[in-house]
Amino acid sequence: MNMKNNPLALEQEILKETKGFVKELLESDSSGHDYEHIFRVTNQALTLANKYPCDKFVVEMAALLHDIDDPKLNPEPTHKVETYLNQIELSRERIEKILSITHNLSFTKSKKGIIVDSIEGKIVQDADRLDAIGAIGIARCFAYGGANSRPIYKGSTDDESSIAHFYQKLLKLKDMMNLEESRNIAIERTALMNDYLHAFFEELK
Ligand code: NI
Repeated sequence: MNMKNNPLALEQEILKETKGFVKELLESDSSGHDYEHIFRVTNQALTLANKYPCDKFVVEMAALLHDIDDPKLNPEPTHKVETYLNQIELSRERIEKILSITHNLSFTKSKKGIIVDSIEGKIVQDADRLDAIGAIGIARCFAYGGANSRPIYKGSTDDESSIAHFYQKLLKLKDMMNLEESRNIAIERTALMNDYLHAFFEELK
């Protein structure tokens, strides 16, 4: 098949290659940013993408690549996504769009007032945040804590413990969702986390 004359086949080929690239880089991660996280975020993003007019290919690519250059996973700043995108057959416009999403997605960037302005970016950001809350979010919070030698609880909701992380970040995410669809899911998942925290403190008594 001549890929040049068949843009959809070319996109499928690129997505397949990108999945392989991401899998190889994140396979051994144990901090809650493993390939299963990427897989869940990508599926969630594609579900959201069906409800809003957008470039679904850009959504899927940005979801697949969103954690590759994350400072949490790389002690030194990296540009692996840009290097990767520059060597595949993709328009400059789409490369820029994907990079602006992967660069600006994080909670740290949001706290600095940086917003993701494209609909594709809003979708991927919400999908990533949805994976940080609810039952999976609880599991990931403690997995990340374990991987980073963070205690479960140190007696306060304002220290470096995993329990404090719920109050510092996870419970706030529902109010930071970009899209109504995601906000509704986030409200349910946040209620579950509140139930969990309530039970945790009951057992401490
Ligand atoms: Ni992520």
